[in-house]
Amino acid sequence: MIRRVVNGVLDRQGWADGVGELLQKVYLAALRPMPLVKDLLHGTWLGHALHPAITDVPVGALTAALFLDLIGEPDGAKWATLVGFVGMLAAALTGIADYTGTDGKARRYATIHSLLMFFSTTVYLFSVLIRFQILAGSHQQATIAAVVGYLLLIAGAFIGGQLVFDLGYMVDRHAWRGGGQKWSSLEPASFPENALAKAKAGAQTLVVVQRGDVLHALHDTCAHSGCSLAEKGTVVGDTIECQCHGSRFDLRTGRVARGPATFDQPAFEVRRAEGRVEVRRMRA
Ligand code: FES
Repeated sequence: MIRRVVNGVLDRQGWADGVGELLQKVYLAALRPMPLVKDLLHGTWLGHALHPAITDVPVGALTAALFLDLIGEPDGAKWATLVGFVGMLAAALTGIADYTGTDGKARRYATIHSLLMFFSTTVYLFSVLIRFQILAGSHQQATIAAVVGYLLLIAGAFIGGQLVFDLGYMVDRHAWRGGGQKWSSLEPASFPENALAKAKAGAQTLVVVQRGDVLHALHDTCAHSGCSLAEKGTVVGDTIECQCHGSRFDLRTGRVARGPATFDQPAFEVRRAEGRVEVRRMRA
Protein backbone atom coordinates (compact mmCIF):
# COMPACT_ATOMS: atom_id res chain seq x y z
CA MET A 1 0.00 0.00 0.00
CA ILE A 2 1.37 3.42 -1.01
CA ARG A 3 0.46 4.96 2.36
CA ARG A 4 2.76 2.57 4.25
CA VAL A 5 5.68 3.26 1.92
CA VAL A 6 5.18 7.05 2.15
CA ASN A 7 4.81 6.97 5.94
CA GLY A 8 7.93 4.78 6.23
CA VAL A 9 9.91 7.38 4.27
CA LEU A 10 8.46 10.30 6.26
CA ASP A 11 9.12 8.59 9.58
CA ARG A 12 12.85 8.41 8.74
CA GLN A 13 13.19 12.16 8.05
CA GLY A 14 14.56 13.16 11.46
CA TRP A 15 16.18 16.31 9.99
CA ALA A 16 12.67 17.76 9.55
CA ASP A 17 12.17 18.01 13.33
CA GLY A 18 14.88 20.66 13.80
CA VAL A 19 13.74 22.57 10.71
CA GLY A 20 10.13 22.38 11.91
CA GLU A 21 10.98 23.66 15.37
CA LEU A 22 12.79 26.66 13.90
CA LEU A 23 10.06 27.46 11.35
CA GLN A 24 7.37 27.15 14.01
CA LYS A 25 9.17 29.65 16.26
CA VAL A 26 9.41 32.16 13.40
CA TYR A 27 5.74 31.74 12.42
CA LEU A 28 4.54 31.96 16.03
CA ALA A 29 6.57 35.12 16.60
CA ALA A 30 4.86 36.65 13.56
CA LEU A 31 1.29 35.48 14.28
CA ARG A 32 0.98 35.50 18.08
CA PRO A 33 0.74 39.31 18.33
CA MET A 34 -2.21 39.16 15.86
CA PRO A 35 -4.72 36.68 17.38
CA LEU A 36 -7.59 37.89 15.18
CA VAL A 37 -5.58 37.34 12.00
CA LYS A 38 -4.41 33.97 13.30
CA ASP A 39 -8.01 32.90 14.01
CA LEU A 40 -9.10 34.16 10.61
CA LEU A 41 -6.45 31.96 8.97
CA HIS A 42 -7.28 28.90 11.11
CA GLY A 43 -10.98 29.15 10.22
CA THR A 44 -12.11 29.41 13.87
CA TRP A 45 -14.83 31.85 12.70
CA LEU A 46 -16.00 29.26 10.15
CA GLY A 47 -16.15 26.30 12.54
CA HIS A 48 -14.01 24.40 10.03
CA ALA A 49 -10.33 24.51 9.14
CA LEU A 50 -9.87 27.05 6.33
CA HIS A 51 -6.69 25.56 4.85
CA PRO A 52 -8.22 22.39 3.31
CA ALA A 53 -11.06 24.45 1.83
CA ILE A 54 -8.64 26.85 0.12
CA THR A 55 -6.30 24.15 -1.18
CA ASP A 56 -9.05 22.97 -3.54
CA VAL A 57 -8.54 26.18 -5.57
CA PRO A 58 -4.87 25.66 -6.58
CA VAL A 59 -5.23 21.90 -7.02
CA GLY A 60 -8.25 22.39 -9.30
CA ALA A 61 -6.86 25.36 -11.24
CA LEU A 62 -3.41 23.84 -11.75
CA THR A 63 -4.89 20.51 -12.86
CA ALA A 64 -6.95 22.44 -15.43
CA ALA A 65 -3.85 24.42 -16.47
CA LEU A 66 -1.85 21.24 -17.07
CA PHE A 67 -4.68 19.76 -19.13
CA LEU A 68 -4.97 22.96 -21.21
CA ASP A 69 -1.20 22.93 -21.81
CA LEU A 70 -1.35 19.32 -22.96
CA ILE A 71 -4.19 19.97 -25.45
CA GLY A 72 -2.45 23.07 -26.86
CA GLU A 73 -4.50 25.88 -25.26
CA PRO A 74 -1.74 28.19 -23.93
CA ASP A 75 -4.04 31.18 -23.27
CA GLY A 76 -6.37 29.18 -21.05
CA ALA A 77 -3.40 27.51 -19.35
CA LYS A 78 -1.86 30.92 -18.65
CA TRP A 79 -4.89 32.21 -16.72
CA ALA A 80 -5.54 28.92 -14.95
CA THR A 81 -1.90 28.89 -13.80
CA LEU A 82 -2.25 32.43 -12.45
CA VAL A 83 -5.42 31.49 -10.50
CA GLY A 84 -3.66 28.39 -9.17
CA PHE A 85 -0.57 30.36 -8.17
CA VAL A 86 -2.61 32.97 -6.25
CA GLY A 87 -4.52 30.10 -4.62
CA MET A 88 -1.21 28.57 -3.52
CA LEU A 89 -0.23 31.82 -1.80
CA ALA A 90 -3.57 31.91 0.07
CA ALA A 91 -3.20 28.23 0.99
CA ALA A 92 0.33 28.93 2.26
CA LEU A 93 -0.93 31.65 4.63
CA THR A 94 -3.64 29.42 6.13
CA GLY A 95 -1.23 26.49 6.25
CA ILE A 96 1.36 28.53 8.16
CA ALA A 97 -1.26 29.35 10.81
CA ASP A 98 -2.20 25.67 11.22
CA TYR A 99 1.48 24.69 11.26
CA THR A 100 1.98 26.67 14.48
CA GLY A 101 -0.20 24.13 16.33
CA THR A 102 1.66 20.96 15.29
CA ASP A 103 3.93 18.83 17.49
CA GLY A 104 5.96 15.65 17.17
CA LYS A 105 5.14 13.45 14.19
CA ALA A 106 2.47 15.86 12.92
CA ARG A 107 5.05 18.65 12.80
CA ARG A 108 7.50 16.42 10.94
CA TYR A 109 4.87 15.59 8.29
CA ALA A 110 3.74 19.22 8.15
CA THR A 111 7.33 20.42 7.65
CA ILE A 112 7.87 18.12 4.67
CA HIS A 113 4.43 19.03 3.29
CA SER A 114 5.20 22.75 3.55
CA LEU A 115 8.67 22.43 1.99
CA LEU A 116 7.24 20.54 -1.00
CA MET A 117 4.57 23.23 -1.38
CA PHE A 118 7.21 25.96 -1.11
CA PHE A 119 9.26 24.40 -3.95
CA SER A 120 6.11 23.85 -6.01
CA THR A 121 5.05 27.49 -5.57
CA THR A 122 8.54 28.69 -6.53
CA VAL A 123 8.53 26.60 -9.71
CA TYR A 124 5.03 27.84 -10.57
CA LEU A 125 6.22 31.42 -10.07
CA PHE A 126 8.69 30.90 -12.93
CA SER A 127 5.94 29.38 -15.04
CA VAL A 128 3.67 32.40 -14.42
CA LEU A 129 6.46 34.92 -15.11
CA ILE A 130 7.31 33.23 -18.42
CA ARG A 131 3.65 32.93 -19.49
CA PHE A 132 3.04 36.65 -18.81
CA GLN A 133 6.34 37.55 -20.56
CA ILE A 134 7.83 39.13 -17.44
CA LEU A 135 10.69 36.64 -17.72
CA ALA A 136 12.21 35.54 -21.03
CA GLY A 137 11.39 31.94 -21.91
CA SER A 138 9.41 29.70 -24.23
CA HIS A 139 5.99 28.18 -23.72
CA GLN A 140 7.72 24.80 -23.58
CA GLN A 141 9.83 25.96 -20.61
CA ALA A 142 6.72 27.29 -18.87
CA THR A 143 5.03 23.92 -19.41
CA ILE A 144 8.03 21.96 -18.09
CA ALA A 145 8.02 24.17 -14.98
CA ALA A 146 4.29 23.50 -14.59
CA VAL A 147 4.80 19.71 -14.82
CA VAL A 148 7.56 19.81 -12.15
CA GLY A 149 5.45 22.12 -9.96
CA TYR A 150 2.43 19.86 -10.36
CA LEU A 151 4.34 16.72 -9.29
CA LEU A 152 5.59 18.56 -6.19
CA LEU A 153 2.04 19.81 -5.54
CA ILE A 154 0.55 16.32 -5.69
CA ALA A 155 3.28 14.88 -3.44
CA GLY A 156 2.73 17.72 -0.94
CA ALA A 157 -1.05 17.31 -1.08
CA PHE A 158 -0.74 13.58 -0.38
CA ILE A 159 1.32 14.27 2.75
CA GLY A 160 -1.13 16.99 3.79
CA GLY A 161 -3.86 14.36 3.54
CA GLN A 162 -1.81 12.00 5.71
CA LEU A 163 -1.54 14.72 8.32
CA VAL A 164 -5.33 14.92 8.59
CA PHE A 165 -6.59 11.42 7.81
CA ASP A 166 -3.74 9.39 9.30
CA LEU A 167 -2.57 11.57 12.20
CA GLY A 168 -5.91 13.27 12.83
CA TYR A 169 -4.55 16.82 12.85
CA MET A 170 -7.25 19.56 12.88
CA VAL A 171 -10.08 17.02 13.04
CA ASP A 172 -12.78 17.18 15.72
CA ARG A 173 -11.52 15.11 18.67
CA HIS A 174 -15.14 14.59 19.76
CA ALA A 175 -16.70 13.66 16.42
CA TRP A 176 -17.73 10.18 17.60
CA ARG A 177 -18.75 11.13 21.10
CA GLY A 178 -22.47 10.72 21.64
CA GLY A 179 -24.71 13.40 23.12
CA GLY A 180 -26.99 11.05 25.09
CA GLN A 181 -29.62 12.46 27.43
CA LYS A 182 -28.77 10.27 30.44
CA TRP A 183 -27.59 11.93 33.64
CA SER A 184 -24.34 10.49 35.09
CA SER A 185 -22.87 10.96 38.55
CA LEU A 186 -19.81 13.15 38.75
CA GLU A 187 -16.88 11.97 40.89
CA PRO A 188 -15.70 13.65 43.05
CA ALA A 189 -18.61 15.92 44.00
CA SER A 190 -16.80 18.94 45.46
CA PHE A 191 -14.22 21.18 43.82
CA PRO A 192 -11.96 24.15 44.63
CA GLU A 193 -13.26 27.62 43.78
CA ASN A 194 -12.41 29.04 40.33
CA ALA A 195 -9.74 26.44 39.58
CA LEU A 196 -9.59 23.67 37.01
CA ALA A 197 -10.23 20.18 38.34
CA LYS A 198 -10.55 16.78 36.69
CA ALA A 199 -13.66 14.66 37.30
CA LYS A 200 -15.16 11.43 35.98
CA ALA A 201 -18.69 10.99 34.67
CA GLY A 202 -19.01 7.33 33.74
CA ALA A 203 -16.35 6.64 31.10
CA GLN A 204 -15.88 10.33 30.30
CA THR A 205 -13.25 12.59 31.84
CA LEU A 206 -14.37 16.18 32.37
CA VAL A 207 -12.72 19.40 33.41
CA VAL A 208 -14.80 21.38 35.89
CA VAL A 209 -14.68 24.86 37.38
CA GLN A 210 -16.67 25.78 40.51
CA ARG A 211 -17.77 29.43 40.65
CA GLY A 212 -19.91 30.13 43.70
CA ASP A 213 -23.00 27.94 43.37
CA VAL A 214 -22.40 27.25 39.69
CA LEU A 215 -20.33 24.33 38.44
CA HIS A 216 -19.16 24.50 34.81
CA ALA A 217 -18.21 21.23 33.10
CA LEU A 218 -16.54 20.61 29.74
CA HIS A 219 -14.97 17.50 28.28
CA ASP A 220 -11.33 17.29 29.35
CA THR A 221 -9.85 16.43 25.93
CA CYS A 222 -9.03 19.61 23.99
CA ALA A 223 -10.94 19.64 20.69
CA HIS A 224 -7.85 20.92 18.90
CA SER A 225 -5.24 18.27 19.48
CA GLY A 226 -6.17 16.26 22.52
CA CYS A 227 -4.34 17.85 25.49
CA SER A 228 -5.98 17.49 28.91
CA LEU A 229 -7.59 20.84 29.75
CA ALA A 230 -7.44 20.06 33.48
CA GLU A 231 -3.67 19.52 33.25
CA LYS A 232 -2.69 21.99 30.53
CA GLY A 233 -5.43 24.58 30.86
CA THR A 234 -5.86 27.80 32.75
CA VAL A 235 -8.95 29.93 33.47
CA VAL A 236 -8.92 33.19 31.50
CA GLY A 237 -12.03 35.29 32.15
CA ASP A 238 -15.01 33.12 31.20
CA THR A 239 -12.90 30.73 29.16
CA ILE A 240 -10.48 27.86 29.61
CA GLU A 241 -7.27 28.42 27.68
CA CYS A 242 -5.39 25.31 26.61
CA GLN A 243 -1.71 26.04 27.09
CA CYS A 244 -0.68 23.48 24.46
CA HIS A 245 -1.43 25.81 21.54
CA GLY A 246 -3.59 28.59 22.97
CA SER A 247 -7.17 27.56 22.08
CA ARG A 248 -9.87 29.02 24.33
CA PHE A 249 -13.31 27.58 25.07
CA ASP A 250 -16.25 29.28 26.77
CA LEU A 251 -16.68 27.76 30.22
CA ARG A 252 -20.48 27.89 30.02
CA THR A 253 -21.11 26.63 26.49
CA GLY A 254 -17.86 25.05 25.29
CA ARG A 255 -17.91 27.34 22.25
CA VAL A 256 -14.47 27.90 20.76
CA ALA A 257 -13.43 31.47 21.51
CA ARG A 258 -9.91 31.37 20.07
CA GLY A 259 -8.02 29.06 17.73
CA PRO A 260 -6.22 27.05 16.58
CA ALA A 261 -9.25 24.91 17.53
CA THR A 262 -12.07 25.25 15.04
CA PHE A 263 -14.50 22.91 16.84
CA ASP A 264 -16.39 23.51 20.08
CA GLN A 265 -15.62 21.64 23.27
CA PRO A 266 -18.45 19.35 24.49
CA ALA A 267 -20.19 21.09 27.41
CA PHE A 268 -22.31 19.49 30.14
CA GLU A 269 -25.37 20.51 32.10
CA VAL A 270 -24.96 20.09 35.85
CA ARG A 271 -27.59 19.33 38.52
CA ARG A 272 -27.48 18.38 42.18
CA ALA A 273 -29.68 15.49 43.32
CA GLU A 274 -29.70 13.80 46.73
CA GLY A 275 -26.22 14.98 47.63
CA ARG A 276 -24.82 13.86 44.27
CA VAL A 277 -23.66 15.99 41.36
CA GLU A 278 -24.90 14.76 37.98
CA VAL A 279 -24.04 15.85 34.45
CA ARG A 280 -25.29 15.25 30.94
CA ARG A 281 -24.12 16.48 27.57
CA MET A 282 -25.64 19.78 26.45
CA ARG A 283 -27.37 19.71 23.11
CA ALA A 284 -25.27 21.41 20.44
S1 FES B 1 -4.33 20.71 22.18
FE1 FES B 1 -3.89 22.41 20.90
S2 FES B 1 -4.88 24.05 21.88
FE2 FES B 1 -5.38 22.33 23.11
